[in-house]
Amino acid sequence: MNLRNQKIAQRHDALAGEGSSFRAKLIRWFEQNGKSYPWRDTQDPYAILVSELMLQQTQVATVLERGYYQRWMKRFPETKTLAAADESEVLKLWEGLGYYSRARRLHQCAQNIEQQFAGSFPADLASIRLLPGVGPYTAGAVASFAFDLPAAIVDGNVARVLARLFDYREAVDSTAGGKMIWSLAQQLMPKRKNARSREYNSALMELGQTLCNRSEPLCGDCPVSAYCATRDPKSLPIKKPRQKTVLMEEDVLFAKNKGRILLEKESGSRRTGLWKLPALHAEESSHSPHQKEQIVLTMKYSITKYRVTLYVHQVKDTANIKLDQHRKWFAIAELDQLTLGAPYRRALEKLL
Ligand code: ADE
Repeated sequence: MNLRNQKIAQRHDALAGEGSSFRAKLIRWFEQNGKSYPWRDTQDPYAILVSELMLQQTQVATVLERGYYQRWMKRFPETKTLAAADESEVLKLWEGLGYYSRARRLHQCAQNIEQQFAGSFPADLASIRLLPGVGPYTAGAVASFAFDLPAAIVDGNVARVLARLFDYREAVDSTAGGKMIWSLAQQLMPKRKNARSREYNSALMELGQTLCNRSEPLCGDCPVSAYCATRDPKSLPIKKPRQKTVLMEEDVLFAKNKGRILLEKESGSRRTGLWKLPALHAEESSHSPHQKEQIVLTMKYSITKYRVTLYVHQVKDTANIKLDQHRKWFAIAELDQLTLGAPYRRALEKLL
């Protein structure tokens, strides 16, 4: 064992060893300072799964203040109602949250629970992990929050807390670094069911969201600063160099005829099943592009590592437009009922 790993092992013993009050201190702080959220006031694993998927790429404020969580739980209060719903309705309720694969996964989880688990939510970590698209983080969250099982969870906030506690100086988002952080997180957990893993995991997460924040850590107020190894919290966690942004251009059609708009259903992308403005095909503009269409709107949006410039071309002569099974005309009044990708909805709002 090298010197650095030895230091981490010693630190680990101090935190996790018998008689350590690390967890107790953290939980007491959480009881006095933790925020109250609907998913913290329930032990319903389905409600917790919904919250965790919504919160994966979306902030708490959006999920709650804009009513997404509340609307979802009202319309789909249990796996049975969700499993029976049409995908179009599921996507519609998700509209505006982005990353729609989350909604589809939730739908598949509900169907899987109905079909494979006879409608009863799996109650151990290994079975929860069998649900479609449920990885270690989500499984750990459901296992600990719903069933008080000693399953670790590591999100960005928790990784930061642990990197600082252990003064861990490798990239936490590398394969080896991620494994190390997960292993430390698991070793710090209680060893059995019903030993307050629920509160402990919530507390760790809350600490990362508040006092142990990225840029202005408030170590003076931290309930576990006595256990923390780092002298330079702002320098942690170490991360891999950021992936470069890739610039892209996208050309789409704005075809309007007799109060109707032509849309196209996405396939083979992360927005599969959503409606968008139809892509401009090369052959559609190959003859005399500048006579047939003109750019009426230029807009920028970001998705994952891409920074996209969207060019919207107005089609003058809609009679010549190519139709296929993905393209359909919709009355403008119908657009509200469709699930449209956010950039296209924004474009249509500007154009109509
Ligand atoms: N972000 C993700 N999961 C969360 C939770 N359970 N509580 C607060 N914020 C979260």
